[in-house]
Amino acid sequence: MSETEPEIRKGLVGVVADVSAVSKVMPETNSLTYRGYAVQDLAENCSFEEVAYLLWNGELPDADQLKAFRAEEAGERAITPALHGVIRAFPQDAHPMDAIRTAVSFLGLEDPETADVSEAATRRKAMRLLAKIPTAIAAAHRASKGLAPVEPDPKLTFAENFFHVVLGKVPAPEVVKAFDVSLILYAEHGFNASTFTARTITSTGADLHGAVTGGIAALKGPLHGGANEAVMHMLAEIGEPSKAVAWLEGKFDHKALVMGFGHRVYKNGDSRVPTMTKYAEKMAEVVGDRRWMEMSRLLAAEMLTKKKIHPNLDFPAGPAYHLMGFDIPLFTPIFVASRITGWAAHVIEQQADNRLIRPLSHYTGAAQRSMPAR
Ligand code: ACO
Repeated sequence: MSETEPEIRKGLVGVVADVSAVSKVMPETNSLTYRGYAVQDLAENCSFEEVAYLLWNGELPDADQLKAFRAEEAGERAITPALHGVIRAFPQDAHPMDAIRTAVSFLGLEDPETADVSEAATRRKAMRLLAKIPTAIAAAHRASKGLAPVEPDPKLTFAENFFHVVLGKVPAPEVVKAFDVSLILYAEHGFNASTFTARTITSTGADLHGAVTGGIAALKGPLHGGANEAVMHMLAEIGEPSKAVAWLEGKFDHKALVMGFGHRVYKNGDSRVPTMTKYAEKMAEVVGDRRWMEMSRLLAAEMLTKKKIHPNLDFPAGPAYHLMGFDIPLFTPIFVASRITGWAAHVIEQQADNRLIRPLSHYTGAAQRSMPAR
């Protein structure tokens, strides 16, 4: 490395950009903790609301705190007629991630505290976004299918209400539990691309709605959250388990990316995959359709044998959401409905000890030169 050629960490691989007390990603043991608790333990023993409280407050809630948190969230779910009107004006074929990005931006126009970046206001705005995002996702999805929106039901849990506003009905408890588990697993993951985007936006002094709008834009990409949709498209393209291995060999021939595999941090397995796979298997049992999980098992075994690459969370989440009855374009918006918790926790942390995020680039363009004669 010479003076004129600094070490470039392309993609910021391995760069530790700041401290954080929200979650710890430990690739050496394939583990992940939120505020010190193993994500698997949270998924098996807690509700998504308890985990949201934990991420925002550092501790799990007691019964009264949980009751108050649930009541506040349930009371904020309605969206205005103005936002419903904006959603109805979206093009019929708008991608749901573009729809929710635009809806969150519009919520920023309506929020009485948008520009207030104090911690208290950011917490109140985070709660409003947590509550309203499912309503906006569902309204946009239903509008794209020519269906009227369903009013949120404050008596339902966060997970139950998501099914209610999207599908108009709440499924069996084991389906709701599998969905709740997926929300917990998707809630937070250190300095991933969308969270780092949200923190970068926050570092300029910009507000929560701006940070979340940017986070959603980053999450849409197929290398990040968009992979859960891509996984289901891939499984649908393969069609049946007997074709899985041959299909994969074709991808190897073209050195193509196989969606739902690989991870920037975990190289020996994603800590969230076993739990999500267990619940995806349960969904296959409930629905009585083993095709997708059988295909997944064959693909994962072949990827490990031939490429030494493990699946990431999006791999089991894709078929799980399909088996729960959600259309594929809703999969990444569901990730948004969950990750708003992690994004907000990081925004609050960034605001508390802020320094503008502003790295350098090493210039490789034309040498300095004179302007041509004019
Ligand atoms: N399919 C095929 N090959 C892969 C895959 C994959 N999914 N992932 C990595 N590889 C290969 C790379 O091409 C590279 O090969 P090379 O050394 O011959 O060039 C090698 O494995 C090492 O990959 P990395 O460079 O370590 O991957 P990186 O950290 O840059 O990227 C990423 C990580 C973006 C997640 C990548 O694995 C990928 O594109 N996966 C598919 C998309 C995906 O599933 N994203 C979801 C991420 S998790 C989440 O958001 C919840």
